[in-house]
Amino acid sequence: MTASSPIWRVQDILYGRHDLWARLDIGCKGKRFQVEICPKNFVNSELSFTKYARFINDMFGHDWETTYNEFYDWIVPPFLPILAEIEAPPLDGQASTLRDYLNPETYYFQLHFIDEIMEPRCDYNARRTLREPGVDIGDFALHPSWGCFTPEMVQQCLNEGEYSYSNYPRKVCVDGKLCFLKDNYTKRGLLRELDTYKKMETKGLSNNAQVRVPQFIGVVYAAQDCRHVIGILISLVDCDNLTLSCALHDEVTISQRRKWEEQVTTTVELLHEADIIWGDVKPDNVLVDRNEDAWVIDFGGGYTPGWVAKEHMETMEGDRDGLSKIKDRIYSHHGSEVGRASQRDGTY
Ligand SMILES: Nc1ncnc2c1ncn2[C@@H]1O[C@H](COP(=O)(O)OP(=O)(O)OP(=O)(O)O)[C@@H](O)[C@H]1O
Ligand SMILES: [Mg+2]
Repeated sequence: MTASSPIWRVQDILYGRHDLWARLDIGCKGKRFQVEICPKNFVNSELSFTKYARFINDMFGHDWETTYNEFYDWIVPPFLPILAEIEAPPLDGQASTLRDYLNPETYYFQLHFIDEIMEPRCDYNARRTLREPGVDIGDFALHPSWGCFTPEMVQQCLNEGEYSYSNYPRKVCVDGKLCFLKDNYTKRGLLRELDTYKKMETKGLSNNAQVRVPQFIGVVYAAQDCRHVIGILISLVDCDNLTLSCALHDEVTISQRRKWEEQVTTTVELLHEADIIWGDVKPDNVLVDRNEDAWVIDFGGGYTPGWVAKEHMETMEGDRDGLSKIKDRIYSHHGSEVGRASQRDGTY
């Protein structure tokens, strides 16, 4: 069994190792089922509790993805009869927005274990207080040409059969323009990315076609009059998640390789001339669009072992080292990866 089926998908999971508390957000037909589990829910169910505690512990281990999937396959089945009965919302022709994803209609449950039998129960006392999502950017001054949006202004681009609470919206539309919504930031990563794009604006690089970096469109605040940024909007690269790592397979012609080398190198050189450092240099941070053109992305910083040495993180030298490794990779006919953005190296 897999973690998702056509009718449900776990959108989010939170858990604590010390208090052995877990909360799952299960999406089904555009609605959210929030399921909480805690030690006091286990009554005369030592076997189940031991299994549960092992899962939580393993989630901190190396193979967390498999653990998540096995955990979901254990926890969700008692909810299936409830999920099956839920009616999908009528299609009213109204565009879904990011707000619909962030605040979907929600049902709250506690999962109890009584004599080793799982029992979902409605939770009428669930804590419904919403934490302000996003990262507080304090007094960071945005570039005056950037837009400021709230989740209501960001339209989702849904595929057939998808609901507003199906997948985190990444391909979105604001003011009639297709954008990529980048979220999930640390404060440091977000501020670095904002600052780097701002420098590109002030130094005139955002209008230079040789600088192959997406256009910065604006930020999405959690609400009006608030400084919590949920994500940034940049122009969408039509790449279907294809990164340079995945694009470099054995059949790529030498002229194509030269084009990618030239596009990435020129971009980095122009950034450096303007005193701007890329940061987390690696082929996973280069996208390849449908016209086989390369785009440099990800100014959130950090470094990835094997591409930039830790001591050269976010320095010109680090960029140069990483770039030279990218060039080696472009011209190597071995070790090409299969798939799309699936086997990424992790940034530190
Ligand atoms: N402008 C864009 N257009 C289309 N897709 C994009 C764009 N920017 C980023 N992406 C997609 O998002 C992925 C991650 O982007 P990025 O490298 O900027 O973020 P990250 O912080 O490294 O995230 P992750 O940890 O998920 O890699 C890319 O591999 C690509 O699939
Ligand atoms: Mg990245």
